[in-house]
Amino acid sequence: MTREFASVGVVGLGTMGAGIVEVFARNGIDVVAVEVTEAALERGRATLTGSTDRAVAKGKLAAADRDALLARVNWQVGLAALHSVDLVIEAVPEHLDLKQQIFAELDRVCKPETVLATNTSSLSVTEISVATTRPNQVIGIHFFNPAPIMKLVEIVRTVVTSAEVVADVEALCARLGKVDVTISDRAGFIANALLFGYLNHAVSLVEARYASREDIDAAMKLGCGLPMGPLALMDLIGLDTAYEILDTMYRRGGRDRRHAPVPLIKQMVTAGLLGRKSGRGFYTYERPGSPVVVPDDQTPVSEESTLEARARGIAKVGVVGSGTMATGIIEVFAKAGYEVVSVTRGAEKSAKLFEAVKTSLNKGVVRGKLGEADRDAALGRITWSATLEHLADVDLVVEAVIEELSVKKALFASLDEICKPGVVLATTTSSLPVIDVAMATQRPADVVGLHFFNPAPVMSLVEIVQTIRTSTETTATAKAVCGELGKTGVVCGDRSGFIVNALLFPYLNDAVKMLEASYSTADDIDHAMKLGCGYPMGPFELLDVVGLDVSLAIQRELYLELREPGFAPAPLLEHLVTAGYLGRKAGRGFRDHTRR
Ligand SMILES: NC(=O)c1ccc[n+]([C@@H]2O[C@H](COP(=O)([O-])OP(=O)(O)OC[C@H]3O[C@@H](n4cnc5c(N)ncnc54)[C@H](O)[C@@H]3O)[C@@H](O)[C@H]2O)c1
Repeated sequence: MTREFASVGVVGLGTMGAGIVEVFARNGIDVVAVEVTEAALERGRATLTGSTDRAVAKGKLAAADRDALLARVNWQVGLAALHSVDLVIEAVPEHLDLKQQIFAELDRVCKPETVLATNTSSLSVTEISVATTRPNQVIGIHFFNPAPIMKLVEIVRTVVTSAEVVADVEALCARLGKVDVTISDRAGFIANALLFGYLNHAVSLVEARYASREDIDAAMKLGCGLPMGPLALMDLIGLDTAYEILDTMYRRGGRDRRHAPVPLIKQMVTAGLLGRKSGRGFYTYERPGSPVVVPDDQTPVSEESTLEARARGIAKVGVVGSGTMATGIIEVFAKAGYEVVSVTRGAEKSAKLFEAVKTSLNKGVVRGKLGEADRDAALGRITWSATLEHLADVDLVVEAVIEELSVKKALFASLDEICKPGVVLATTTSSLPVIDVAMATQRPADVVGLHFFNPAPVMSLVEIVQTIRTSTETTATAKAVCGELGKTGVVCGDRSGFIVNALLFPYLNDAVKMLEASYSTADDIDHAMKLGCGYPMGPFELLDVVGLDVSLAIQRELYLELREPGFAPAPLLEHLVTAGYLGRKAGRGFRDHTRR
């Protein structure tokens, strides 16, 4: 039999605390909500009222239930009010000395059997517990932001936490409708250990002006299906909290430079730009606490002016290649009304490519997404050729041949001789430096990367890679073309991994390292990222889909170019690839796919 907690105290009613109060009160549990001042108490109360009022307005909560929920909360200043609760959850700022002080005080105030829990994201629960005379009743209950919505709770057990307390808290999570993973006391636990290196890296890209905040966020949302981009997430978490978490993870987690907070974060915190809670962080919000982003001086001017900058009108497009990407790209351009010249290495390849494009268009017709007449018109716009000379009069060439630098360079040298002046020459490379390809021509200003995602007709993201020689006009033309294709073009510099892969693969590699260190299981890690951070797939599910060999190759590239020790491929990943466990395509990767 596990113990049932009838009343709960929550200390600190900021971003997390107010949400945690809501979770308990919604589930019929009485809450004593405690803050340090009357003003902070009012803010916490306003957060809860606002959130429940929104739920009522959306029809997700009956007005009477809201009133009952609110009536369960007893608002108090000072810890003394917690004398008779069964469980306390602390959610004050992420400072060890403050938390220790609060736990020492809770230990004096609360009943001897009361369980004391911290919502810390990165501090040592063990160090917090020793501030009390009951470390065996101290535990980490780590909720995710926003607490009422995110399903995951990480339960952190120290070496002294009693097994009964762990079982009681696990039962409580089930009662709250949460999914828990129970883990030991390590910096960042599962989710934050995998998340914060990525968030910090994204901030470093902004700091280095590698890409804009909008483009970084759009890239990760559209390229990886994440619920929000990293900079919007930093604003939601709060930059002060994020700073403290990174700082603690750096110190506790082996001084990995990727966790050393990027200087920009500290500057923003000092300037009071804390994110949503202060009304301004990476973005500007309608008012403090509001999720509504309003334009500011960094907001890009409307697409109209970009389109006007499209000095080079593009009507006819050449696509070179006959693989998966070329097939998708031909379809995308033809459907958008461009005249397309497809060039392959032979009539046989062209015939196959024609069949592939036709089959894909037919699927659109079967699904009711494309009319038969539109399909025929799209097909009619394509010319099939095996001669590069047919690209003499196109306005844009998109190269999608094999990922080998020598092949691409030779092709670009030929294009340089064949194409008319002013043509935009684009490469779809996902890993080679675009500048190498550009320098194979006499017109590097006209060369740009157009990194489509697979499948091109479905994925709406295109990374527009500008080299240090690409002209503004070329980039503007590329951006305008993406707009015409109904895609979001994000502009970035010519660095390994561009935006998406540079931010995604180190995170996947970190997950492999975590598994290798036996901190958790593949299932729990996948769960944590899906339920704690809203990712569409866990890292091991994604690695198996992408292919372990592909992932390893990308990670190696990133490591070689950036020389970041933390990017070194996980030995386990190398071993699995050597063993032929390449993921779904091989029937086995991190999981066995033959039995499913
Ligand atoms: N922000 C997130 O996304 C997130 C997610 C999970 C866990 N956490 C963790 O939750 C904890 C709280 O973070 P937050 O982002 O909600 O911080 P916050 O700054 O939004 O809120 C902290 C609140 O604690 C109050 N407080 C300070 N001293 C107090 C005291 N002595 N007694 C009572 N209240 C006091 C403050 O007035 C403030 O309202 C941290 O440990 C953080 O690491 C944060």
